Amino acid sequence: MRIAMIGGGYVGLVSGACFAEFGTEVVIVEADQDKLAALRAGAIPIYEPGLDKIVSANVAAGRLSFTDALDSAIDTVDAVFIAVGTPTRRGDGHADLTYVYEATRQIARHARKGLLVVTKSTVPVGTGREVARILREERPDLSFSVASNPEFLREGNAIGDFMRPDRVIIGIDDTATDGGANARALMHQLYRPLYLIETPIVMTGLETAELTKYAANAFLAMKVTFINEMADLCEKVGGNIHDVARGMGLDQRIGRKFLHAGPGYGGSCFPKDTRALTAIARDAGTPSLLVEATVAINEARKAAMAERVIALCEGTVKGKTIAILGLTFKPDTDDMREASSLPLIQRLIEEGATIQAFDPEGMKPARPLLPESVIYANSAQEAATGADALVVLTEWNEFRAIAPAKLKAAMRGAVIADFRNIWDPTTLRAAGFTYRSIGRP
Ligand code: UDX
Repeated sequence: MRIAMIGGGYVGLVSGACFAEFGTEVVIVEADQDKLAALRAGAIPIYEPGLDKIVSANVAAGRLSFTDALDSAIDTVDAVFIAVGTPTRRGDGHADLTYVYEATRQIARHARKGLLVVTKSTVPVGTGREVARILREERPDLSFSVASNPEFLREGNAIGDFMRPDRVIIGIDDTATDGGANARALMHQLYRPLYLIETPIVMTGLETAELTKYAANAFLAMKVTFINEMADLCEKVGGNIHDVARGMGLDQRIGRKFLHAGPGYGGSCFPKDTRALTAIARDAGTPSLLVEATVAINEARKAAMAERVIALCEGTVKGKTIAILGLTFKPDTDDMREASSLPLIQRLIEEGATIQAFDPEGMKPARPLLPESVIYANSAQEAATGADALVVLTEWNEFRAIAPAKLKAAMRGAVIADFRNIWDPTTLRAAGFTYRSIGRP
């Protein structure tokens, strides 16, 4: 079997490389010449543990290749996946589908009979149906199969998530002339290795698959937001959010994952998908008040993190040096999209602070997004040197191992805001710090 993946970005590259690892021949179509040249030279433009190995092994095995020639790629494949970007459209919160529909028209131009077209990007409900309509409009002479196959990849964990997923969601267009039989057969063949390890595969309709993706992400965002609210409540009434989360999570109906209180969720998916879902639901005349509240609470939370730091610094950060450990929206990624560090650092600088930041992977992508005055350190220890206060924003493992005494010796002041609860309050206080974490006494 041979497939084309349109888009060599995060989703396209990971999915393409993993399908190749499953034994399928994959050609990734990337229009950006710089990105294409990098990929062809064996350079992986994103930080994702394990991806470089899978890419190089499959390129060497002749199962994975890169091109900018969509026409010749489409000519030779059984299925084509659309994995282009769907950013938030300015103004209304909807996903911008320009790239998806442009790719669809290009595919139609070069397609042959029976081609299966699959949307992999996260797209609003109704997009798969529109893709099918465009294909038929462009090529009334051909029969097409259309499917929706949303991804559930976590950055930093994407390879494992693809190879051993909790489930696979496949939406099939059953209005195709064959009732969707070709699509079903091809998708089955593509995911054969997962059938062998008994991964649940949910075969459903196009709209259901599209909605499932949004519903899953919005639910997870809501779960995080809920525990964040409970953490704030713990701080006011007395309580330990760690134990509340554990106590709640042991109920199997709730589950223990995604109950870590923090500085608000960020990243490329949750903020974008929750906003898109609220727009979809409003348009449909059934607003999702829960998701709308989640979006608003999370925005307010990110903005409020600076106030916590200022309060800890006795009401002002003017003239003070603040060390920031962690810039990315979560560990094991270099992704800065919608990271809590962005509004926090901006605000602290406006309030007159000097920022010394360190992140193991995120400093290069952070530079264009943060004020020029930010000083980038070569290590956590260097960032802490001479600082009046220190803020932990991303729970990189290497930060957990830092010895409090060494920090204390390096810093000028003794204030720590640990927004990821990576350190033990008793130990830090014993070391002489004024220590505040999230939702813990
Ligand atoms: C997410 C989904 O998990 C994935 O299924 C989807 O396809 C894409 O979006 P990702 O954005 O990589 O993946 O990150 P994730 O690990 O889910 O974390 C999202 C955000 O929530 C991060 O900012 C993280 O710090 C925050 N988070 C997560 C918490 O604050 N607490 C938690 O308990 C979990």
